[in-house]
Amino acid sequence: MRSHTAGQVDLAVLDQEISLVGWVNRRRDHGGVIFVDLRDRDGMVQVVFDPDDPAVFATAESLRSEFVIQVRGRVRRRPAGTENPNIASGAVEVLGLGLAIINRSEPLPFQLDDERVSEEHRLRYRYLDLRRPEMLARLRLRHQVTRTLRRYLDEAGFIDVETPVLTRATPEGARDYLVPSRTHPGEFFALPQSPQLFKQLLMVAGFERYYQIVKCFRDEDLRADRQPEFTQLDIETSFMDEEGVMALVEDMMRHAFAEAVEVALPNPLPRLTWAEAMRRFGSDKPDLRIPLELVDVADLLQSVDFKVFSGPANDPRGRVAALRVPKGNDLPRSAIDDYTKYVSIFGAKGLAYIKVNDAAAGREGLQSPILKFLTDEAIAGILSRTGAQTGDLVFFGADKAKIVNESLGALRVKLGHDLGLVESGFRALWVTEFPMFEYDEKEGRYYALHHPFTAPNQADVPMLATNPEAVRSRAYDFVLNGFELGGGSVRIHDQALQKQVFGLLGISEAQAEEKFGFLLDALKFGAPPMAGLAFGVDRIIMLMSGASSIREVIAFPKTQSAACPLTEAPGEVDEAQLKELSIRVRKPVVEKPE
Ligand code: AMO
Ligand code: AMP
Repeated sequence: MRSHTAGQVDLAVLDQEISLVGWVNRRRDHGGVIFVDLRDRDGMVQVVFDPDDPAVFATAESLRSEFVIQVRGRVRRRPAGTENPNIASGAVEVLGLGLAIINRSEPLPFQLDDERVSEEHRLRYRYLDLRRPEMLARLRLRHQVTRTLRRYLDEAGFIDVETPVLTRATPEGARDYLVPSRTHPGEFFALPQSPQLFKQLLMVAGFERYYQIVKCFRDEDLRADRQPEFTQLDIETSFMDEEGVMALVEDMMRHAFAEAVEVALPNPLPRLTWAEAMRRFGSDKPDLRIPLELVDVADLLQSVDFKVFSGPANDPRGRVAALRVPKGNDLPRSAIDDYTKYVSIFGAKGLAYIKVNDAAAGREGLQSPILKFLTDEAIAGILSRTGAQTGDLVFFGADKAKIVNESLGALRVKLGHDLGLVESGFRALWVTEFPMFEYDEKEGRYYALHHPFTAPNQADVPMLATNPEAVRSRAYDFVLNGFELGGGSVRIHDQALQKQVFGLLGISEAQAEEKFGFLLDALKFGAPPMAGLAFGVDRIIMLMSGASSIREVIAFPKTQSAACPLTEAPGEVDEAQLKELSIRVRKPVVEKPE
């Protein structure tokens, strides 16, 4: 139906007669001449209709936005001064000689270029929202990146194997999406939170190098970087340790970033141990673009007459940390109150601060509600350790280490953005040596920080029996600009060790047998050593494209409340279907969100 696409119309086809098809992006009438911006998936081109041919002109007059048209015309130079350097076809225009309306469009429910349209509305008419060139560009980028990743892994000898979607629960720590079985009344499949167990079985089967670009399902609280169904690039290897896997996948990611967005990630990528990341950034996924760091000051405050500080300073699970804000002295009281409210989201009971009016003047040069509690030595120590200068402000967090890390870690990021301190570019790193377990004080039990198949650090194995909290795992996360893009580990391939870890996690032998009996069985039959990881593809594309949420890089995403405004899923089903599934619905126990 066409000789060229809009993107191919430029000076190279000057004076040629061409035909185009596409959508009317906009029609403008200018003193007896009609301008139509014709849009297709390749770009935009200006078509001009003049009244020389009354029939064509009349058709042009009847065009409305989003009509589908076919145009025949001659390419000519735009008059001097009317070129548009922003589009590929900007030096030329097409003089319309023939015009056919292929299909009409009702007025759209929103203007495609209107920035104020609500996301709900955009998602309801996603097929229109996707007409916006930036949406197409993001999905095209996604296609290019997955193509690059596939090619890379193919060349490295990986084979793409599909794993089941109707399966049993996988232990990644979220709630499962369940599917009732008709043929086994009262029983349910779980949708996979990841293909973790199957990829380990493929290693037992001897495949050695597996990958898959695969949908995973997790019923968890949604955020900008979380969807209930999302896509992983899932990888597993045999006979490789963490060094081998990290070297391979960081090379793969360097490739992908170079090819897709011309960004050169460093070789090798920097690494931080989990302990150092928490100490300096209060986070296991530090955004290294923000030049602010936490500093420990507990030892300076153990004997001060201020319980808020001395309590955590003397508690082995406590932490007292300071965060220096360059030029923060300008922050008004109201801003400090807002930040205090902000850290309370993470459980912080307050946000003490010191304003540095004159760093050389000691106590006299400072301003703070807590100054009276601090000794001169403590003050001098805080100033020198944080490097605080005249005009700075120092914030403090004092509590259980977990609360201080979460609150000051988040405050660090917020301040970075609020004060315009975020450097541009991509800062990738590995975070390694995670603890194996996290202790839940409320429930009085351990949780696996990664998943229960993650191997402990060899040197720490004896501590499994004596001090599980101190045991480091062989897990690693790929972190970029404050987001966890990927995570993986060396797996346990020894059945006895696997049982010991289950025991520590409070998973009884009977439960283990019930839940993952098939994996434990498989480990008996010559399981090779294995290691792997999975990347969040949506997150990779979000960061590459500078989008603010992964919803912007998914063609048909769910809302924050895990619904689809387009199809109105989830929806009720009729009684007969329920009966077939042996399901009786108790009318909503809890109110639906929204
Ligand atoms: P993990 O649970 O860390 O590891 O997931 C791997 C990566 O998947 C992405 N991700 C998500 N993306 C969008 N929405 C979500 N709800 C979501 N949840 C996770 C993240 C994350 O880094 N089986 C292990 C991997 C392994 O050990 O090999 C796993 O699933 O980018
Ligand atoms: P208070 O004595 O409770 O009025 O607190 C004095 C100062 O310490 C205030 O600026 C509080 O915001 C701050 N503060 C209180 N609790 C904490 C805490 N756990 N961590 C850091 N600062 C705190």
